[in-house]
This record gives sequence, structure tokens and C-alpha cells, in this order.
Amino acid sequence: MTILVTGGAGYIGTHTAVQLLEAGYDIVVIDNFHNSHIEAIERVKRITGKEFPLIKADINDQSALEAIFQQHKIKAVIHFAGLKAVGESNQIPLAYYRTNVAGTVGLCEVMERHNCNTLVFSSSATVYGNPEQVPIPESSKTSATNPYGRSKLMVEEILADTQRSRPDFWNITLLRYFNPIGAHPSGQIGEDPNDIPNNLLPYVAQVATGKLRQVNVFGNDYNTPDGTGVRDYIHVMDLSAGHLKALEHLQNTGSGFHIFNLGTGRGVSVLEIIEKFREISGQPIPYKIAPRRPGDVATCYADPTKAQKVLGWNTQYGLEDMIKHTWNWQKQNPNGYRS
Ligand code: NAD
Ligand code: WQD
Repeated sequence: MTILVTGGAGYIGTHTAVQLLEAGYDIVVIDNFHNSHIEAIERVKRITGKEFPLIKADINDQSALEAIFQQHKIKAVIHFAGLKAVGESNQIPLAYYRTNVAGTVGLCEVMERHNCNTLVFSSSATVYGNPEQVPIPESSKTSATNPYGRSKLMVEEILADTQRSRPDFWNITLLRYFNPIGAHPSGQIGEDPNDIPNNLLPYVAQVATGKLRQVNVFGNDYNTPDGTGVRDYIHVMDLSAGHLKALEHLQNTGSGFHIFNLGTGRGVSVLEIIEKFREISGQPIPYKIAPRRPGDVATCYADPTKAQKVLGWNTQYGLEDMIKHTWNWQKQNPNGYRS
């Protein structure tokens, strides 16, 4: 059974590709390497010992998508390809709407033409905006405060409309990721941000190697136990495993529309992350308290009960593994895939 993995060279895409190949699926990857490196694909092949077709193309390139569906019998699509930097989305919103929204619409059009009905879409906890309650169940109110978040919300609504238009055909699952961190236990693949990282873990990891001087802790006056932001960090291996569970579930249900949170249900503060990283790496992690980052919320963590019950998905890795594996990847690849 062949799965099209869009954005399969990226952080979550590579980890999912490894697990799909190890589970016996065939995969085809499409990626334009906007935020990834060909070496990541080589590493996926090395870890699994398997070959697969890689199409270097833009998700907006309809003829490239057509060719993929003509050449391969694609049974399902896992759609990771997209732009994901919240700050950047304020500067170049049209690029975000083009790739994230129009790209997904175009993909669904090609899928429909080729009678491919099964789609797993990468959504985000960002669609909960400033959460009205924690832990956050899937039924919580959604909202967005920036173009990135709005692009995810728009796609969620577009996919819901699409499924409603042909309820006996479309089989769609939205996965709302919380904060993916960590790396493959081998240290061969991991998160490789371009430039200075926006997200906490890659930033802390680069402070640990001495590449960056100190962590800026964005605010210590939140209404949280130590005043710093609380998030639901989830190991990328567990997150990827959730995609295989979602695929199996879609195969068993036939047609439908489903939404699942993928998180651990546990909130961890910025200072706890820094302290744990210091303990595991044995490196000093200097930090300073900086002003709050606009748009940040105090606390965000999942109620993952639905995915546990319906998908039979449970996380295997704790915070210790997440940080150990992040550090292992960072040490082995101080300059990411360019190392
Ligand atoms: P990533 O940037 O590492 O991976 C995305 C991949 O898509 C990259 O390889 C990139 O080159 C590719 N891509 C970008 N634009 C493309 C285009 N126009 N055509 C083809 N390929 C294109 O990001 P990731 O962390 O692996 O995220 C994967 C998905 O999960 C994204 O949709 C993201 O919005 C979503 N998500 C990520 C997080 C997170 O914190 N990492 C959280 C929630 C949701
Ligand atoms: C985590 C915590 C920061 C960096 C983002 C997106 C979200 C999703 C996941 C895609 C917060 C603090 C951070 C730093 C800090 N991505 N922090 N110093 O903001 O929860 O979520 O990534 O969908 O949409 O918004 O993740 O890692 O940026 O921040 O103090 O240098 O760390 O304030 O409390 P966030 P993050």
C-alpha cells in the first residue's frame, strides 16, 4: 500500500517516513526543500535500508501532483508540506495562504480526480488560540491570532466542507499537534531549523553546544507555577506513531471526518526544560528573562483521551527521552544536515 507523504523531508515528515517504511508501507515523498535538506532523505533511507521515490516539486505544482498519482497507486496522503513560522507568517501572509491553504485545496482536487479519498492533515494546537480551558479537548473553541494559525483553521474548515460534500467518499483526519520535540533515537534525523531557531528546544540545544550565547526566556510573570510559559512537549517519535494509528483507523472506518489532539496531556514550563536540558547535557545553559513574546499564551496542554481511546495511541517517551534524543541529535549534527 502506497502513501504519499508531502513535506516528507521535514522534521515530522522524516520521522513518520521511517515509521511507515518500518511498518511495511511503500511511500512516495514530495518536497520542494524550502525548509529541509536532501541529506534528510538519505538518512531515512539509511535508517530503514529502504528506497522510495522522491519528487522535488512544489505542492502547488498541479502537474507534478498529477504525475505522481498517474505513476503510483496512492492509497492515502499524509500532508505535512507547509510553512510553519508564526512570526514570518505576519511578514509574508500570502506565501502562507498560497502554500498552506491553496496547496491543500490543489492536493485535494488531484486526490479526488484520482479517486484517492484518504487524507491525514497536520493541524496544530495553535487553532485553540488562547485556550478557554486546560487540558484542551478537541471540542474546545477554535480561533487564530496570526496568518499561520488562520491558515491551519481555514484548511480545517475547507476539509470539513469537502468531507461534507461527499460524505460517503472522503475519509479525512485532522491531527492537532502540540509541541513536537526530540529526535530519532539514532541521532541520524532531527529538527534542523534554518537560521536562528524560533522554537524553544532547538534554541536551548544550540545554547548547549555554545552556538548561541543564552536562552531568552520570554516572560516569567505568567500565571503558571514558576511564571514561565507551560506547553505540552511531545516526542516526535510518538507524534509520528500517531499518524500510523490515524491511517489504520481511517482504513477501518471507510469514510468520515475526525479530529484528534496529539499531545501528552502534561504541561512543562520553560524553566523546567532548561533545567532538564542542563542536567542531561551536563552543559551550562545560561538564560535571561526577556519580555513576553507577543501572541504567546500562558498555558497550553492537550486532553489526549480521544486519541488514546479511539486510535489506541499512547505516548511511549517521557520528557527525559525527548531531551536526551534532542541532545544526541544536536551533538552529532551541530550544523544540522550540513554537518
Ligand atoms: P518542516 O518545515 O520541517 O517540514 C515541512 C516540509 O514541507 C519541509 O520539508 C519543507 O521543505 C516542505 N515544504 C514547505 N513548503 C512546501 C511546498 N510549497 N511544496 C512542497 N514542500 C514544501 O515542518 P514540520 O515541523 O515537520 O511540520 C510539518 C507540518 O506540521 C507542517 O504543516 C506544520 O505546520 C505542522 N505542525 C508543525 C508543528 C511543529 O511545531 N513542528 C506543530 C504543529 C503543526
Ligand atoms: C514554547 C515556550 C515560549 C523560545 C509554536 C507555534 C505553534 C506550533 C508549535 C506549529 C513558550 C518559550 C520559546 C525562546 C522562550 N507550531 N520560549 N524562549 O510558541 O508553544 O508553539 O510551535 O504549528 O503553532 O506557535 O512553541 O517552542 O516557540 O515556545 O522562552 O527562545 O517557550 O514563550 O512559552 P509555541 P515555542
